Amino acid sequence: MPGTRELLVRVGSRAADLGCRAFLVGGPVRDLLLGRPCLDMDVVVEGDAVALARAAVEPGEPAPVLHVDFGTATLVSGATRVDLVTARAESYHWPGALPAVRAGDIHQDLARRDFSIHAMALVLNGERRGDVLDPHGGRGDLEHGLLRVLHEQSFIDDATRMLRGVRYEQRFGFAFEPRTLSLLERDLTCLDTISGDRVRHELERTFDEAEPEQALQRLDVLRLLSALHPGLRFGPEKARALAGARREPLSTAQLQGVSWCLLGWGMDAAMLESLRVRLTLRRSIVNDIADALAVAGLEMQLDRPDLEPSAVFDLLHGRSHVALLTAGLLLSRPAARRSIALYLSRLRHVRPALAGEDLRQLGFSDGPAMGDALTALRAARLNGEVASRADEVELARRLLGTGGR
Ligand code: CTP
Repeated sequence: MPGTRELLVRVGSRAADLGCRAFLVGGPVRDLLLGRPCLDMDVVVEGDAVALARAAVEPGEPAPVLHVDFGTATLVSGATRVDLVTARAESYHWPGALPAVRAGDIHQDLARRDFSIHAMALVLNGERRGDVLDPHGGRGDLEHGLLRVLHEQSFIDDATRMLRGVRYEQRFGFAFEPRTLSLLERDLTCLDTISGDRVRHELERTFDEAEPEQALQRLDVLRLLSALHPGLRFGPEKARALAGARREPLSTAQLQGVSWCLLGWGMDAAMLESLRVRLTLRRSIVNDIADALAVAGLEMQLDRPDLEPSAVFDLLHGRSHVALLTAGLLLSRPAARRSIALYLSRLRHVRPALAGEDLRQLGFSDGPAMGDALTALRAARLNGEVASRADEVELARRLLGTGGR
């Protein structure tokens, strides 16, 4: 299976055979020049990208994934992906619209990009093979750590670029070049032109960054969050909480869930509903945030020092895991945080040794009495009042004597 380099060399040489030019562009050129690893390669072809993808595959290798209607194709080799697209020129019919595209040359293709550091192309074939085309000063900006848009209309054409820019700024420790920053401030309201799906996608890409709390805080400081929705906030306290969550052994999906709960923390039900509408949030995300807000509302009850474990269980049982993690990180009262930690680490796993069938054998009949008995057994387990199966049998017999209650 060819490695990344071999595959790109092959794409270049097949492009020469087909009489077209191919270029590595965008993020991979940036990462190459920064000396950072990159597995997703973007190749622009002045010609038929689908034909080039077909020609670049050797017998026995996986077939390329073709999107003939879009003129795009993907080669996969191990962990490497090479996306090939035909060079495009594009125009925006109205701000925030997805662009209308037509075939173009590499210079038009670079001119439609978000930042100068993404508007460079590494030539893969022909006399200039190995050269970097840099018509917008991307290399200098990369050296100085600057994010610069290519023209004054850039954020108006596509306001998601503001969200992307913050991500790159924080990922690489870069800064917006002053003129770009003032355009961003000028064009904040253009975020209204971006669909909920696209905004949500950008936020979720931000959650997946190595240190998402940095970018989220910056989105807040630059007032991008409040421009997206007036109830969205992400201050230092939430940043500390997210950094704390990242130290826990959580899955990517759980970290995403915690990130959503943190973003929504502090809202009321009406705000959450308008956020759902603005970002077309999935029901599961809304439920997680609503649970986090509900647990926040229990803070005073959870803070009581004499609270029995079974009472903690009753307050928190059925709440989503990520909501509880979030509340455990953000509630201000230490005893309330401890109650949540106790629930997550121990109480939620507690089950009585006796199940319904055991109770039936002891003389219980199906119905509410049996349900009550199981709840009582669990409470007794949680509070350490029974420690063994024999203890539970004894308790169950006593409950039976009192009608199961
Ligand atoms: N791009 C753009 N405007 C957008 C989205 C993308 O100009 N709103 C261009 C940029 O040139 C970018 C390229 O499309 O480099 C590919 O975008 P994407 O895959 O989202 O990002 P990468 O550059 O690959 O960077 P990374 O995946 O590291 O975020």
